[in-house]
Amino acid sequence: MKINHQTIEQNVGLMILLVVLTVSVGGLVEIVPLFFQKSTTEPVAGLKPYDALQLVGRDVYIREGCYNCHSQMVRPFRAETERYGHYSVAGEFVYDHPFQWGSKRTGPDLARVGGRYSDEWHRVHLNNPRDVVPESNMPNYPWLAKNGVDGKSVAPRMKALALLGVPYSEADIAGAEKAVAGKTEMDALIAYLQVLGTAVKPGGPAQAPAKAAAPAAATTVGALAAPAAR
Ligand code: HEC
Repeated sequence: MKINHQTIEQNVGLMILLVVLTVSVGGLVEIVPLFFQKSTTEPVAGLKPYDALQLVGRDVYIREGCYNCHSQMVRPFRAETERYGHYSVAGEFVYDHPFQWGSKRTGPDLARVGGRYSDEWHRVHLNNPRDVVPESNMPNYPWLAKNGVDGKSVAPRMKALALLGVPYSEADIAGAEKAVAGKTEMDALIAYLQVLGTAVKPGGPAQAPAKAAAPAAATTVGALAAPAAR
């Protein structure tokens, strides 16, 4: 039997087989290199893992379900970047396990809220949002200021993240309990909010030093992924 286009089109079984074959080759060619490419997971220059207090704050954020109303992902659209700042880049989230991108925006995106308000503003706002934003429908979180942080629980959390590749040093982990001593969950959550999105400056991620022989096409990728200088 001579296999030409007509044979394939008239034979459903053969057609399905060949389609599956073509799609798998196409898929493998795109996916397999990602497993070997370290650059897809490179942090933006200046990105630091959450310190002990910020990490506790991140966990309070998850426990309280803030992500049900807030995303942490500025999309690359003009309306978004004018409101929130530079769009989010992949390299900002490499130490987030799990990331808090979310998708529900009852409240504003928080990806770049770090430094936008004072700690005191956050304290008043989290206690009762309507004290600073009268029309707000965000819930009150008055217990955060009363709950102390359990210092002993922090080192194991950091160790777990270290297993996933977050670069915590022995000293970071050993000092975790002391770093959160006497702090409340409110302090921790505010420390977390104040660092969000601050690794990327308003002008965009810091550029890696240009490589002399880099092909021109690489610059767009570099601008998005902004690999840290090594
Ligand atoms: C029911 C939905 C809802 C939940 C849950 C919620 N928020 Fe909000 N949040 C809002 C809304 C709506 C606003 C805008 C009005 C305001 O500023 O209060 C807001 C505003 C904010 C702002 C100010 C953002 C800006 O750019 O002005 C911060 C910070 C914030 N929320 C943090 C949190 C944190 C932290 C939590 C969890 C402890 C949380 N929110 C839970 C709805 C919510």
